[in-house]
Amino acid sequence: MTGTELGHGFRLVEHASVGSTNDLARDLAERGEPEGLFVRADRQTSGRGRLGRSWESPPGNLHASLILRPARPPAEVATLSLVIALALAQAVERLSEGRVRPQLKWPNDVQVAGAKLAGILLEMGADGRGGCAWLVAGIGVNVAWAPGDAVPYRTTSLAAQGLQATPRQVLEGLAASMRPQLERWQAGGFAAARVDWLARAAGLGRPVELRQGEGPVSGILRDVDRSGALCLELASGELTRFSAGEVVLA
Ligand code: BTN
Repeated sequence: MTGTELGHGFRLVEHASVGSTNDLARDLAERGEPEGLFVRADRQTSGRGRLGRSWESPPGNLHASLILRPARPPAEVATLSLVIALALAQAVERLSEGRVRPQLKWPNDVQVAGAKLAGILLEMGADGRGGCAWLVAGIGVNVAWAPGDAVPYRTTSLAAQGLQATPRQVLEGLAASMRPQLERWQAGGFAAARVDWLARAAGLGRPVELRQGEGPVSGILRDVDRSGALCLELASGELTRFSAGEVVLA
C-alpha cells in the first residue's frame, strides 16, 4: 500500500508538480493500489476538467485524486460525483465555521453565491465483466486563486470568501466529511444522500439550460431523483430525466 496516513481511513501521497493527479492515481489503481489513496500535487501542468476542458492548477489551490473501488452497481457509480461534491460542501462549511455555505450544481460543481468554487472529475476503469474495476475522483478546489475571466462562468475561491486555508487543510477537512458520505453511499447509493444534496441544490425551481450530446434543452429544474438523474420540466409541461450534461442556470 502506498502513502502516509491521512486519517478517516485514507492515505496520501504528495507531489510538488505533476501533469494531472488523475493520471498518477489511475496508474496506481491499474497496478492494484487498494482504495482510499489520495494523490495531491501543489500544482498541475496539464490539469483537466470535465468536457475536455483544461483546469488551471496553480500552487495554493487543492488538486487531489482519490482512488476508489466502488462495490455498487456500475450504473450508480457516476452518482459518486454528487456525493463527493456534497462532502466537499460540508467540509468547506465546517472549515469556515458556518460562514460559507456552498451550494451544489448538478452534477459535479460546488458553488458559492452562483460562482464555481470546485469541481469533480470522475474517471473509471472497466473490470471486463460490465463492472467498474477502479474509479478515480479528481477534486479541484479554488483555495487561494480563482481563474476569473479565463473561463466562461463565474468563479470564486475560499480566499475571496474570507477563508484562509492551505490545500492540505482543505483536504483533511474533506477526508473527514467524505468518510461518512462514502459509507452511506456504499449502503444505500445516492438515494441515501438525496435529501442532504437537495438542501444545497442550486437553481431548484428555476429555469435552466442543460447542455448535452443531443443539443441544449431548456426547462425548470424540478428535482434530482433517487438515481441521481436531473429532472427538468419542459415547456410542454412534461417532466424529463437526464443522466448526463451540464446545467447552466439562467
Ligand atoms: C470540472 O469541474 O470540470 C472538474 C475539475 C476537476 C479538476 C481536478 S484537479 C485534480 C484532478 N486532476 C485533474 O487533472 N483534474 C482533477
